[in-house]
Amino acid sequence: MEVKSLQKQFYQLYGREDPYPVELYFAPGRICLIGEHIDYNGGWVMPAAISRGIYAGFRKEDNEIVWMRSNMDGRDIVCSLATEITFDETRGWGNYPLGVLNELKNKGIAVSGAELMFQSNLPVGSGLSSSACVKVLTAYMFSKQAGYNIDLTELAQLAQASENNFIGVQCGIMDQFAIAHGKANNAILLNCNTLEHVYVPLRLGDYRIVVLNTNKSRRLSESKYNERLAECQTALNLLKPKTGIKHLVQADPRDIDKYIKDPILRKRAHHVSSEQQRVQEAAAALRNLNVEDFGDLLFKSHQSLKEDYQVSGHELDTMVAGAQQHPGCIGAKMSGAGFGGCAFALVKKDAIESFSAYIEQYYHRHTGIKGTAFEVEIADGVRKLD
Ligand code: GLA
Repeated sequence: MEVKSLQKQFYQLYGREDPYPVELYFAPGRICLIGEHIDYNGGWVMPAAISRGIYAGFRKEDNEIVWMRSNMDGRDIVCSLATEITFDETRGWGNYPLGVLNELKNKGIAVSGAELMFQSNLPVGSGLSSSACVKVLTAYMFSKQAGYNIDLTELAQLAQASENNFIGVQCGIMDQFAIAHGKANNAILLNCNTLEHVYVPLRLGDYRIVVLNTNKSRRLSESKYNERLAECQTALNLLKPKTGIKHLVQADPRDIDKYIKDPILRKRAHHVSSEQQRVQEAAAALRNLNVEDFGDLLFKSHQSLKEDYQVSGHELDTMVAGAQQHPGCIGAKMSGAGFGGCAFALVKKDAIESFSAYIEQYYHRHTGIKGTAFEVEIADGVRKLD
């Protein structure tokens, strides 16, 4: 459905007459199943790509001009590849693909002009990684068009580099990696230090994944994200000389209590250490087809993100607390950076309708905000559509 309307809109905007064909692409959003705020602490995370994401129509042009439009905001973004591409606040979402073009140029990849149209069915700024999605998608399309056979890990690294260098957010690699390497019905168990990864089949039996959008924008997330990153760095610097660890995920809980006196830093380090443990337990639970244990670890992860890492907030906590009270739900947690955005729940498939109606009502009663619940499937990563 999206594909047809995208093609139609593409022709309406750019016209049909052109020597080059319109190519259609898709990149998924992602949820972080477990391993939250672990990627920049050098540990194992478990994200998965989802069935919602961003579609793009792409047509090569024989010039150096890139035209882009997106349903995420109606404005046109136009840039010349012949001049330097710089960050410009007024270009809004356009800075994401522009940052990628800049990164591709810096790598010496011969990108040429193009006409593009993006159409997203991911709620924007909701913690499902719409920004990483548009970046991975842009890098994929332009490198293909340039005849550069980009490896999926290199693709993720390039998209992350553009976020770090062009946008200025020091995010880890989890989101970009999941969007590039996603595999239907599988979680990705990824070591963010070595980029070693394995797929873990997500056999959830009678349970399904329901995303819970708080519809609360994540205004604090960038500043608080960088603050948590700095706290983890300080905690690591305190432990390093005493214990010889290289990454905070390696910290032993007894050493944390012994060597970190500041109660806030201690809590942060305990989240990182316990969350890392939960990732291993979650992988084992999935391998043993123990869905209930897996669900229970999600609740525990959320608790740790709320109490020790303090990145959830009233809206996400309300979603998870409401979900926990429903008999059809066996696990729920926030997903992504936090401070708003989305949570997700594991819900028995024949209870999804009643669960969704219940949680929307519960959430509205406790926050005054209209939240939304929708089921997602676990999907493949970025790809060209036939
Ligand atoms: C954001 C970042 C990721 C990761 C998560 C928290 O989504 O982009 O790199 O740190 O937050 O797990």
